[in-house]
Amino acid sequence: MTGRKRILSGIRPTGALHLGHYAGSLENWVRLQHEYECYFLIADYQVSDYADDIPRVREAVWDVALDWLAVGLDPEGSHYVIESLVPEHAELTLWLSWYLPLGELQRNPTLKAEMADFGKKSVPVAFYNYPVMQVANILMPRAHLVPVGEDQLPHIEMTREVARRFNQKFKHVFPEPEGLVGRVARLVGTDGQAKMSKSRNNAIYLKDDAATVAKKVRGMFGGPPRGANEPGKPAENPILMYLDAFDSDRGAVQDLNHRYETQGVSNAELKDRLTTVLNDFLEPIRDRRARYASNMKLVREALEHGSNQGRTIARETMEMVRDALDLNYLEKH
Ligand code: TRP
Repeated sequence: MTGRKRILSGIRPTGALHLGHYAGSLENWVRLQHEYECYFLIADYQVSDYADDIPRVREAVWDVALDWLAVGLDPEGSHYVIESLVPEHAELTLWLSWYLPLGELQRNPTLKAEMADFGKKSVPVAFYNYPVMQVANILMPRAHLVPVGEDQLPHIEMTREVARRFNQKFKHVFPEPEGLVGRVARLVGTDGQAKMSKSRNNAIYLKDDAATVAKKVRGMFGGPPRGANEPGKPAENPILMYLDAFDSDRGAVQDLNHRYETQGVSNAELKDRLTTVLNDFLEPIRDRRARYASNMKLVREALEHGSNQGRTIARETMEMVRDALDLNYLEKH
């Protein structure tokens, strides 16, 4: 084990990753991967409404791994962990759930929002487990830092509380992890709706080809109706928001914003620029993805090796937990 501090973050395997994932968290993972010892988790125990469609989960596991390789997360340096291959996650979840009052879970804003989505459908018991499981995920490698999208911060706050409680009541086992939100905390969808997401069908995927990107950008919502020579508010136009997020020519972005506010810029011009910017950005990612996709043996190795490493630290942590809880019944009597 190295002396570096540890990162844990994760993604649920519900499909390929999009620009929102990148701006919200992946970018930080890539940036910090050599500074920290990293555990990147594919959280398949937390598949929520896909639990009755495991073939789809399986496909998404590979998609996520390919996307990680594509954005440049080095699987030699960091660990790609499949959650259910480390069943200690389930064990720790169970123990921790004794120290987390239900009322506290029910007040968690992320959970509340998701709960509303169930509408009249019945809520599976596992739905209450999954936030505890996320706490267990973070505590398992005794992580110091958790780079995530903004919507995940309440879970990290909960993790800190559970860690504090556990350390105080039993033994000091867990660091209190910090959350870290990406440069763009939340990327709106191509339809201008609150959040880019698969289920809303408003996402641009890291694996989309150039023509698909062009088509999606052409169809983007460009703010309230406005003539080409009519000034507008940049904060109301998702095309400008995307340019702000992905255009590396900062001077040009500033000029565009200024021109937009003072004299107006047509959405057609903005869309042209955005198509170029996104395709320039995605090109190397697509290339790397294609290289790995034609050599799936490497992807498999990354997942296998990473999950083994995840299991090693999990066993170590569970020993500390068993010792702290005094569960080694057979050793004393
Ligand atoms: N809940 C996260 C999401 O939906 C994924 C996740 C699972 C996670 N376990 C985690 C994120 C632990 C950070 C830390 O995106």
